[in-house]
Amino acid sequence: MPVVSHTQPTPTTDLLKAPMEICWNFDYAIDIEKLRNLYAKAKDAQWNAERDLDWDVALDPSRPIVDEAQFGFQALPVIQKLSKSQRETFTAHVACHLLSQFLHGEQGALMTAAALTHAVPDYEAKLYAATQTMDEARHVEVYQRYIDKLALVYPMSPGLKELIDATLTADHWVKIAIGMNMIVEGLALAAFHNMRRQTTCELLRKITENVLRDEARHVAFGSVYVGETIRDMHPDDREDVANFAFEAVKAMVDNQGGVDGRGKRRRDPGFLQVLASAEIDPKDFLQSLVEAQQAGLRVERPPGQVHSFKDLMMPALVRVGAVTDRTRELYAAEQIPVFEDASVLEAMENSATGVIEFEV
Ligand SMILES: [Fe+2]
Ligand SMILES: [Fe+2]
Repeated sequence: MPVVSHTQPTPTTDLLKAPMEICWNFDYAIDIEKLRNLYAKAKDAQWNAERDLDWDVALDPSRPIVDEAQFGFQALPVIQKLSKSQRETFTAHVACHLLSQFLHGEQGALMTAAALTHAVPDYEAKLYAATQTMDEARHVEVYQRYIDKLALVYPMSPGLKELIDATLTADHWVKIAIGMNMIVEGLALAAFHNMRRQTTCELLRKITENVLRDEARHVAFGSVYVGETIRDMHPDDREDVANFAFEAVKAMVDNQGGVDGRGKRRRDPGFLQVLASAEIDPKDFLQSLVEAQQAGLRVERPPGQVHSFKDLMMPALVRVGAVTDRTRELYAAEQIPVFEDASVLEAMENSATGVIEFEV
């Protein structure tokens, strides 16, 4: 048997070097009651993907598993002129592309949660982070199994990969918690919430509900633990953390074509494959987007959807003190609004199920 060096990347691996300090703690007393509660809650809420979900459901990969309104593309002229079956194929592939991002993002979350377990200084925070690590392992498992039924995995979007790489290779655990528990999980929580509302597949709805219940705890960890740590930091370190948050938010906003999604989006080879699968010329698609924007037509999301940036991400960052007076100026210079209303975020955290319903 040839010896494979663990430092050699293979076609399916990617190696990163992390500079973060790892922390032992021999004081086993629990001082942070809220973390003890979160850990207790997490232990009670463990579920088994194998046992608790009905995997026998057969899926037809060519049929949409979500309503096309979920993605808001149906108003685009390029989509309207497609035949019914082409539209269904397009929606099915867009959903598969999104689910693939869930899968890859969950693997990133699995690794960041493990990194938090290494690096957080408090014993009770290590216990909590270990439960998040197990949660994320289960999330990778369920999305992998579901995608397996669709028989197609799209590659990770370059923007998401870069954001998670920057988080994984950050030099302080607080940056990891900001990058994952607030920014990436803010994105994910909104996407899961919206997927749960729109899917026509009972198995996917059940998966998403189970995942959401776990994710609400992950976002709560940010508010319970990270806020206190940032408040106690030396001002220079606080600015360093705030700067990391700003850079991560800016990268995410740039990837998505600006705060309102109307600017130039970052090229995503996976999405080009989606267009090719539905026999849509990428140039026609782009042109249609530009024309729709010029005509004042927006790619509108249906009512009742959660907006990751406005409802979850920015309020979470403000709440923990990761937006400072200095970085407020940076956000203003980039015309990125600093949303502060944490009501949707808090409703999700306080809900036992992670699910909230809106009056629409
Ligand atoms: Fe997750
Ligand atoms: Fe998570």
